[in-house]
Amino acid sequence: MRETLARQTIILAGGSGGLGSASARLLAEEDAHLIISYHSNRDRAEELSEIATLVQADLTSASDRQRLLNTADSLYGLVVFTGDPCRVKDPQELEPKMHESYEVNYLGPYLLAKEAAERMKAEGISGSIVLFSTMQANALFPGSAAYAGAKAALQHAARILAKEYRGRPNIRINVISPGVTAAGMAEASIAAGKYDHYLETGIIPRFGRALDIARAVRFFLEPDNYITGQVLTVDGGLTL
Ligand SMILES: NC(=O)c1ccc[n+]([C@@H]2O[C@H](COP(=O)([O-])OP(=O)(O)OC[C@H]3O[C@@H](n4cnc5c(N)ncnc54)[C@H](OP(=O)(O)O)[C@@H]3O)[C@@H](O)[C@H]2O)c1
Repeated sequence: MRETLARQTIILAGGSGGLGSASARLLAEEDAHLIISYHSNRDRAEELSEIATLVQADLTSASDRQRLLNTADSLYGLVVFTGDPCRVKDPQELEPKMHESYEVNYLGPYLLAKEAAERMKAEGISGSIVLFSTMQANALFPGSAAYAGAKAALQHAARILAKEYRGRPNIRINVISPGVTAAGMAEASIAAGKYDHYLETGIIPRFGRALDIARAVRFFLEPDNYITGQVLTVDGGLTL
């Protein structure tokens, strides 16, 4: 039996981006009540204004996180897409980028998830929280330490959260770890041919699509889903 997400309140933090917007459109098809946060790109977020309430929020700010959570009555689901590749182009950027990545890719998402879980628990709601990592946290890509280190930490912290909030109410916390997906932050690199060798050598059959990720999000949000504390890598086999 498949339960519907109709009228369930779900926050998609960073949901205005490439993977978030595809997920929002999939969830809107079954009439979920969506709240989408964006950071700096209001125009991109506006494209989703017909299917979601939009909230500007910087997840590294405690007051913004509280304001975002306060927009939701009876919060059932939270998906935290927020992330930044924190690319280091010059060795001198390494230290500031490490700090920035810690804030945006680890601390902000972790604290929002923890604060949401506390609210769900206080209200007796059995809900679902999904966090976003990257394939770079599961395999070793030279030059990725600033980004991948923070994402790997997030995976570990998410599993701790899952253990802290299992039971009754049962708040499930899982992580999606995408591969090279033709949307959002990977779009420009794909267009520039940076990842073509994965196709040419047959490592992956095609690049990921935003819908591949949206379907994984929907899976973890499903009300009768029995999975918690897991990391689902959606990368077409790339990191094998
Ligand atoms: N696309 C891929 O191939 C890929 C691969 C591996 C992992 N991922 C992960 O998947 C997630 C979604 O990626 P995407 O491709 O959809 O990225 P994206 O298009 O760049 O979207 C990122 C989202 O995060 C928001 N954001 C950035 N900094 C923020 C902050 N400090 N506070 C609050 N929100 C902030 C952005 O808002 P504004 O645009 O308004 O600033 C946007 O909504 C990320 O966590 C990323 O690391 C993506």
